Parts: sequence; structure tokens; C-alpha cells
Amino acid sequence: MKHGFCLLCACLLCFVLPVQAWAATQTQDGSVVHIKTEEAVVALTFDDGPHPRYTPRVLDVLAKYGVKATFFEVGVNVERYPKVARAVAEAGHEIGNHTFHHKHIASLDERGLYNEVEACNQAIFEATGVRPTLYRPPEGVLGDSRYAQLTSMGFRQILWNVDTLDWRGTNAIDIVSKLMQVRGGDIVLFHDYVVGDLASDTALDTCLAVLQARGMRFVTVTELLSHGEVVTPHF
Ligand code: NI
Repeated sequence: MKHGFCLLCACLLCFVLPVQAWAATQTQDGSVVHIKTEEAVVALTFDDGPHPRYTPRVLDVLAKYGVKATFFEVGVNVERYPKVARAVAEAGHEIGNHTFHHKHIASLDERGLYNEVEACNQAIFEATGVRPTLYRPPEGVLGDSRYAQLTSMGFRQILWNVDTLDWRGTNAIDIVSKLMQVRGGDIVLFHDYVVGDLASDTALDTCLAVLQARGMRFVTVTELLSHGEVVTPHF
């Protein structure tokens, strides 16, 4: 029996290991967590907007320091607040796709994901004239099984390596202490729509000047990608 068990294990390993190795190499390709660079460039990203209560506050603080950022917008909010979406684009920020209904990718089949992403891009196009090619999965779920589909639709998946946790009411002091540690190549996750209050604009107003005085430059995700080698997720 022991011998038989070992044979079974060996057979299973032969089958499972190559599949895992394939998944690890194929699904990570092109997906971005941050970049490797010696340059002091950082991308600030804002998810889930646009929203008339929060987005203008974020736009004001970014304008005050001459910073360009990237906004991963939810289609339903773009349809509801097209003027706010337009203000983001007109201020020179980059806009990415965050699905139409902020749907968890694991809950979508191929058709469902196509519809969610296309409807979001259409809403953004109608409001701003921009067709995003950057995509961020709601709740950061990678959606391995749908990754190839997104790539074939022309999207690049953008994640992050610094999370401000602003969506859960993190106070400005805690956000500032996290921001003071950012390094060149980082992609920082914020939100411009939360349930409750948002401290990110206050935190940015507190520390952007200090970070800029240290030589840090804040750029869009697309610009960041031109500054170094992409670091993909570890599975
Ligand atoms: Ni989100």
C-alpha cells in the first residue's frame, strides 16, 4: 500500500507542478506591482471615484503641488458624475478602468468581465474622450483565469505596493507616516470615494512639499512605467 501511495503522489506531482509553473510565468506577464528604478519617481493612484464630495478635494491638493496622478474610475460613478470625471481628465491626470459596477472579478465569467470592462471604458470615453488602457481589478483580485482575456482586450493590469488603507478611515497622521517612507518606483493606493470621511487629501497636503523637497517626483502610472523594470506579483 505504501508503494502504491507514493506512486500516486508522484503522478499527482507530475501533473500539478507543471501547471503551477505555467500559471506563475504566464499570468504574471505584464501585470505591474511597482517598478525597479534608481530614480525618485512615484505614482499616486486613486480608486473608486469619481465622486463630487471627495474627488475635487484630491484634485485641489494635487494641483497645489503640481502633481499628476492616475484615477481608476468605476463606470457607474462616471455616468453619475460625468463633470467630475471630466475635471480629472482636464487637470491632466491619467484615467484607468476599474470595471462598471466594481465587481469582484472572480464572480464574472468571460462575457461578464468583457461587459464590465467595456461598459466602464465607454462611460469614461463619453465623459472625457479618453479610452483607458490601464486596468485595476476591484479589491485587487488578480483574476488569473481572466488575465489573458484582459491582455487580449488591450489592457495592462496595474496593482500597487503601498496601501494607505484610506478607505477604512485611516487618519491623516498614519497616512503621512506611510507616505514619508515611499521609495522610487512605488505605486501608492488611495481612494477618491470612500464610505465615511477621507483623510488622504489632508495627508498629501501635509507631506507632498517635504517629499518634493527631497527630490521625489510624482507621475502618472504610464510615465512611471517608462522609468524602470516592471515588478510583477509573486504567487
Ligand atoms: Ni476599488
